Amino acid sequence: MADNTTAMLRVEKLEKRFGRVHALKGIDIVLDRPGVYGFLGPNGAGKTTTFKLIGGLLRPTSGRILIGNIDVRAETAKAVSRLGILFDQPAYYPYLTGRENLSVFNRWMGRDDQNRAGRLLDMVDLGGAGGRKVGGYSWGMKRRLGIAAALLGDPEILLLDEPTNGLDPAGIADMRKLLPRLAWEEGRTVLLSSHRMEEVSQICDHVTIINRGEIVASGSPAELSTGQPWIEIESPDVDMAARFLEESGLTDDIKRKSATVIEVLAAGKKPSAINALLVENGLEVTGIREKRESLEDIFFRLTGGVDDDR
Ligand SMILES: Nc1ncnc2c1ncn2[C@@H]1O[C@H](COP(=O)(O)OP(=O)(O)OP(=O)(O)O)[C@@H](O)[C@H]1O
Ligand SMILES: [Mg+2]
Repeated sequence: MADNTTAMLRVEKLEKRFGRVHALKGIDIVLDRPGVYGFLGPNGAGKTTTFKLIGGLLRPTSGRILIGNIDVRAETAKAVSRLGILFDQPAYYPYLTGRENLSVFNRWMGRDDQNRAGRLLDMVDLGGAGGRKVGGYSWGMKRRLGIAAALLGDPEILLLDEPTNGLDPAGIADMRKLLPRLAWEEGRTVLLSSHRMEEVSQICDHVTIINRGEIVASGSPAELSTGQPWIEIESPDVDMAARFLEESGLTDDIKRKSATVIEVLAAGKKPSAINALLVENGLEVTGIREKRESLEDIFFRLTGGVDDDR
């Protein structure tokens, strides 16, 4: 990604403080082509704050956000007119139907194309339910209605804050069909946040991981999962083996899996080398093999899990 080209979305050194809480510590994001991008992080990482800043709903403490080449701070209305946003808890009129809700939002936007609501309902597979009152919609149907609402303004960039939250596997499968269509058939840039790595990796081509207000990794799911094989060691002396590996400075990334199994992250070391080292030092090894790190493992290694203490 060349740095001086016009990106669809460019976030530069973005900082946000809420009093003593340093929510974003200078994050950079560049989305330079259509696609489905994941923005992943545990609770409190800064995902919603980032989306609010991009949407011009909050002012950054410092840093810059460009949509196209338009600065969100300098020209908020013009910049954000290219965005569609779905937040976590959108409000609808429960006594109006899905179609009526969209029509109301459409008129608010100053549009008079009333067929648009119907087309968008079809797109999110709510065509058949468009005449039903939204109060009777399931959670997943409301999520899809929210995406339809976010698409009303025909945005180039769609920000979806936790769109898969609370969805069942069928709902997630629907998203997996819908979001790539928005990207590849309609040329939109979709950025969705989530705290579920497996889910995001099924939907997104590219994942950026945020933790405690900092970007800790960025790449395709395949890129993120290469280069870090764990080595599973089975031994009756597993505690001693763990202590030995730690004390010899080889690794302190050690996971206890059972009474006789540990997994270690020893960058660059092959199982055969570790096996030899352990055996030379009098430790019995009954099994050793390389294991690719799962995406969930990567996420936890990079984020240390949920952060609720701020
Ligand atoms: N208005 C606010 N005032 C004070 N602190 C805030 C405010 N909004 C967010 N924060 C803090 O900023 C940090 C980031 O919050 P944010 O809501 O962006 O996280 P998140 O990644 O969206 O989390 P979640 O997965 O729980 O939705 C948290 O520590 C949060 O408490
Ligand atoms: Mg959030």
